[in-house]
Amino acid sequence: MILAAGKGKRMYSTLPKVLHPIAGAPMLAHVLRTARALNPERLIVVYGHGGERVRAAIADADIEWVEQSEQLGTGHALKMALPALPASGTTLVLYGDVPLTRAATLQALLSAAESGMAVLTDRVADPSGYGRIVRDEHGAVARIVEDKDCTPAERAIHEINTGMLALPNARLPEWLNALKTGNAQGEYYLTDVIGLAAQAGVTVGSTLVAHSYEAAGVNNKVQLAELERIHQSNQARALLEQGVTLLDPARIDVRGSLSCGRDVSIDINCVFEGQVSLGDNVSVGANCVLKNVTVAAGSKIAPFSLLEDAVVGAECKIGPFARLRPGAQLAAKVHIGNFVEVKKSSIGVGSKVNHLTYIGDADIGSGVNVGAGCVTVNYNGVDKFRTTIQDNVFVGSGSLLVAPVTLEQGATVGAGSVINKTAPADQLTVARARQVTVPGWQRPQKKS
Ligand code: UD1
Ligand code: CA
Repeated sequence: MILAAGKGKRMYSTLPKVLHPIAGAPMLAHVLRTARALNPERLIVVYGHGGERVRAAIADADIEWVEQSEQLGTGHALKMALPALPASGTTLVLYGDVPLTRAATLQALLSAAESGMAVLTDRVADPSGYGRIVRDEHGAVARIVEDKDCTPAERAIHEINTGMLALPNARLPEWLNALKTGNAQGEYYLTDVIGLAAQAGVTVGSTLVAHSYEAAGVNNKVQLAELERIHQSNQARALLEQGVTLLDPARIDVRGSLSCGRDVSIDINCVFEGQVSLGDNVSVGANCVLKNVTVAAGSKIAPFSLLEDAVVGAECKIGPFARLRPGAQLAAKVHIGNFVEVKKSSIGVGSKVNHLTYIGDADIGSGVNVGAGCVTVNYNGVDKFRTTIQDNVFVGSGSLLVAPVTLEQGATVGAGSVINKTAPADQLTVARARQVTVPGWQRPQKKS
């Protein structure tokens, strides 16, 4: 059960707190992913503030949504969800604004809940703001006392409640209905069920988080930014451990999934979004952005290139300053140079488009050379048309190819041509004004 009804006032945002992103995905999505890794029987999200937006943003079919229209405390949140709970089994309580808990830690928490009950704790230098874990003379968990309700002695306890709990469903109706609001915050504290359980003779297990970030919640943009950095550094570390070379692990951002073959090298300040896959020996230069891109083995992406929804074949050379837009499909050994934009186009083996060119809605064969400053003129203001360039065509610099148009196999187009009819195979086609020289012409002179 994921509690996600909090307002998040201190985010100063219209976006519900649990939708603020870590690595490009809502915090709640991270918690859900971790929860699913535990193969739960049911997945319940308690929502409140901005609930409809939360439900619309996280439209997964496996979630049962429970509304808590008034936030009267964590105990009240669970009470709202009682009807959705099975009569037996264990409920694992997670928070929608605590995004970086590891599944292994939660598995350890469930293992500690032999009685069906356990708390996930942390030892921190500064426990202020957290509920404190009060243990009895045998070291067993006796109760949790909230920061605002602590005696000075309790306030000095450094073991805190992360908020994550494993609870026995069979006892929950009784305990939740027994909660009272006679505390400093006038709330139904879920943490009070720990004391009720211990009093009833139920052993409350406990386990510590392996890393403090696993228990860290987000209440403001400072904490959001801190967790973003921790998450990015964890991901960078995992890439290094897999053998990826990162020139600086502090300067890579992965917002999605990045899978890499052997001997992949990534220079500084690169951003990977969505699903990105880099084959063996791929190198990515500094300051590149790759979103939903597949790059096959041996290709080099030079600095400052932006690739989105594109496929790059093996041993290609892309950039610097290249832009591959959605639908760019490059076969092997293609060269795309600086200030070249490619959209919804396929480019065949070994073809080169090296300088200052727009290729949109085109099908380009293999062994083609497109000179500097060429444009596929694909749009007449209403409709888009395709350009076909067959194998071994040579397009001279500064040419405009007015679609729909075909350049047949082996055709050569003279520089500066405006081509709007088929350029026949293996011939030179030139479509530009002839050069004339005017004999005896004199430049006008300034009168003095
Ligand atoms: C809670 C714990 C505290 C623990 C701390 C860890 C209680 C009473 N206290 O305190 O022991 O150290 O978390 O961060 O449980 N929520 C709802 N509905 C509500 C109230 C809260 O869904 O009515 C959700 C919030 O969105 C949040 C979570 O529950 O995700 C915790 O609520 P919050 O108000 O932050 O609890 P704390 O006072 O920090
Ligand atoms: Ca909190």
